Amino acid sequence: MESTVPDLDLKDIQGLIVRGYGSLEAACYVLLEIQDGEAARHWLATLADQITDAETRPSRTSLNVAFTHAGLVTLGLDAEALATFPDEFTEGMTSERRRLILGDHGENAPEKWVWGGPKTTPVHVLLMLFAVDEPTLETFYESVSRGFSSGGVTQIGQTLTTTLLRDAQTGLSKEHFGFNDAVSQPLIEELGKSGPPANTVKAGEFILGYPNEYDLLTERPTVRAERDPQGILPADPSESGVRDIGSNGSYLVFRQLHQDVGRFWQFLDDLTRDANGNSDPEARIRLAAKMVGRWPSGAPLVRTPGHDDPELGQENDFGYHDMDPLGIRCPLGAHIRRTNPRDASDPHLGPQRTLSINKRHRILRRGRAYGQPVSASVQIEDADTSGERGLHFICFSGNISRQFEFVQQTWINNPKFAGLYEDTDPLIGDRAPREIRRASGFTEQAMPARRRVSNLPQFVSVRGGAYFFMPSIRAVRYLGSLEPASPDIGQMP
Ligand code: HEM
Repeated sequence: MESTVPDLDLKDIQGLIVRGYGSLEAACYVLLEIQDGEAARHWLATLADQITDAETRPSRTSLNVAFTHAGLVTLGLDAEALATFPDEFTEGMTSERRRLILGDHGENAPEKWVWGGPKTTPVHVLLMLFAVDEPTLETFYESVSRGFSSGGVTQIGQTLTTTLLRDAQTGLSKEHFGFNDAVSQPLIEELGKSGPPANTVKAGEFILGYPNEYDLLTERPTVRAERDPQGILPADPSESGVRDIGSNGSYLVFRQLHQDVGRFWQFLDDLTRDANGNSDPEARIRLAAKMVGRWPSGAPLVRTPGHDDPELGQENDFGYHDMDPLGIRCPLGAHIRRTNPRDASDPHLGPQRTLSINKRHRILRRGRAYGQPVSASVQIEDADTSGERGLHFICFSGNISRQFEFVQQTWINNPKFAGLYEDTDPLIGDRAPREIRRASGFTEQAMPARRRVSNLPQFVSVRGGAYFFMPSIRAVRYLGSLEPASPDIGQMP
């Protein structure tokens, strides 16, 4: 269908899709199970008024909400409407097919997950709370959670807390391995933020109901018009007579990723000791930067291959095709080069065509770290690396399969990515994909000869996760207004 809708309806879009709430430094995520569909619908109808929209820039608190497929079923969405959602969302992250795509086996197997797995309580709703500081977050959580019992929902396990990690020297936000992790995001064209065209992507890649990088409207779920007697939802623009429950919504991928910080730095330390067996922190950090593709400050290796340069910490206007086609500056298999190969994913197509295809595989990252930091910087001597810590990886896309799953399968976990042979992403890759028998390696392209590290241990493992649909605010109201479906529309069992 040709695209027709140019302006973003910011009042109807949930805020986290367009901004990361960086000034709201405290955040937590609450997983809920619906016990009583009717009570939950009433609760949602009220909750809809508290959702922070994308127009508002909240200074104290913010609330966003998303649902799994099982959650929509329990709320009473009819089978005909449910069938219009994409397969990956319907199947869920832990189905046999999705596990294969995501590489969720061995240490990552869903049977071992603490939430979202086949052995844990089914997740129906994700509440995301943000606040200016921890005390405000606590009060906010208390006031929201007071409605759970009468709202027919129960909280699953502990609240998923987050930690704001800041580098001791630069003050920049970082992840647990010690790298600045808030640099590269696609800019949404319709939001009018200025940035490099190569990094500016059409809204339809992230928000349903708008033109995407194919110049089409990304497929959206719909409901029969008679299932929306109050006319809460907009009419489907195809004039097919159905109502559009998808527009202004997005798909949210949540993965709780444990980071073994001790294993990461110990492995690099062992590899980079000098001839006398002494640690060489500089060499250790250089190798880690090669794996990431940026230095701890965030400076990209393509711009500054020899040393870190905090002045370039936010630099994001670069490509690989002209500056580093062979991966001499930034290795071909580095984390940022795999997760966004920019203008170089297919050298045969040329940089412009490659870039336009690449834009169909971008994701908007909105995750936050959790757990206590190991140290204030990347100097980890004598640091206590025990304990549970990692990244609550969260991203938005208009099409989970073409965006998140593609990145995970075709780029992160592909041993033959960019002409490599048996490497996966050095930071987060699955170490035992079926295609390779030996443990995964990491290759540093160099002249006159490449350098190779083999038997990389797994540094990151999955602890939980689910696919969610984050509806528009109108669609949340609609879910709150649902009447049980008549049998001819196919009530789910
Ligand atoms: C614990 C797990 C992870 C860690 C520690 C990590 C760390 C990082 C770091 C340090 C950067 C560079 C800074 C930045 O651009 O913000 C980065 C960039 C990125 N990561 Fe990750 N990441 C993790 C998981 C993932 C996953 C699971 C995905 C996708 C499936 C992903 C996709 C990306 C993307 C798309 C970029 C931006 C690349 C670019 O545009 O240049 N990351 N990550």
